[in-house]
Amino acid sequence: MQILITGGAGFIGSHVADELLRRGHRVRALDNLSPQVHGAGASRPSYLHADVELIKGDIRDRVAVQRALSGVDAVYHFASAVGVGQSMYEIEHYTAVNNGGTAVLLQELIERPLERLIVASSMSLYGEGLYRAADGTAHEGQERSLDQLRRADWDLRDDDGRLLEPLPTPESKTPSLSSIYALSKFDQERMCLMIGRAYNIPTVALRFFNVFGTRQALSNPYTGVLAIFAARLMNNNAPFIFEDGLQRRDFVSVYDIAQACRLALEAPGAAGQAFNVGSGRAYTIREVAAMLAAILGRRVEPEICGKYRVGDIRHCFADITRARTVLGYQPTITLEEGLVELAAWLQDQAADDRVAQASRELASRGLTV
Ligand code: UD1
Repeated sequence: MQILITGGAGFIGSHVADELLRRGHRVRALDNLSPQVHGAGASRPSYLHADVELIKGDIRDRVAVQRALSGVDAVYHFASAVGVGQSMYEIEHYTAVNNGGTAVLLQELIERPLERLIVASSMSLYGEGLYRAADGTAHEGQERSLDQLRRADWDLRDDDGRLLEPLPTPESKTPSLSSIYALSKFDQERMCLMIGRAYNIPTVALRFFNVFGTRQALSNPYTGVLAIFAARLMNNNAPFIFEDGLQRRDFVSVYDIAQACRLALEAPGAAGQAFNVGSGRAYTIREVAAMLAAILGRRVEPEICGKYRVGDIRHCFADITRARTVLGYQPTITLEEGLVELAAWLQDQAADDRVAQASRELASRGLTV
């Protein structure tokens, strides 16, 4: 197949390109090489496979999108602005790129036959994950009140003040959108599934959990926590941990994400649905900070700042039963293994640590409390 990956020069897109090339597909990437991710005045990233045809262009540019779609059989839509914190002050930009860019793509797609559309959705649309109450019943986590967070009371409780215990979150959990980024990801997913259904484009939405691995932009202070911690440690700065560091996430290797993306193209029963793509395991942020420091051989203790980052949730990790059953997805790389490979790659990387500046940016807008 001739396949287009929007955002194909980025972290996830470039790994999916490798996976698709290995399966004998032809791959084109449409990517604007955003300076926040690729650096100012960036050209083609060296990690991008030589067989990927790169079109430099913006997802909001109808003419660039038309060019990129020429002769294409399937599309992966990954082009997005991706920072939760930043989305809370760059509202117009996030909405234009993520929601508007998806609209431009879909407008063009309805004019052409397509065998499959796969959209990168996100665990962010759940807000809080699923919980279990003291009486054993499932409980959809509610957003924590600012009052509670100001008291450094981080955990979720039921109406009687009893602690709720986090459970793996299935796709059936009701979305609860707590940032502009999450809202835009929900929009992207729904728009693609809706237009896919209306125009008979077999469409699959993949709700990625916390993806980590090589090629994640180290100098982007709004990227995922592991790349941020890596940039801090490489500069001998202490990782900065929000809340008490006991919040839990599901860290999934980018290679397993690439596997799920390929399966979403191939699996016959996948169309019309959304799937969680995670590892199915949960780690605290303190644990991942310690694991990364140990693997990198840095003796820098993290700084637990006891502050809440507006838009953050306490716990969310994936129930991956649906992806296992329908896609045949099977996570293959543990966090430990993935971190060893990440550490080896980091040896040859330079990281501008812009985290302190980004923290000031959030604090000055009242977005950390
Ligand atoms: C969010 C989105 C996810 C998105 C990802 C990358 C939610 C629920 N999920 O995940 O869809 O793909 O961002 O944009 O919105 N942390 C620190 N110190 C740091 C950075 C982060 O302690 O320097 C903490 C955060 O407070 C959070 C955890 O680490 O508790 C994970 O943060 P992050 O990597 O930004 O991802 P999520 O917010 O889980």
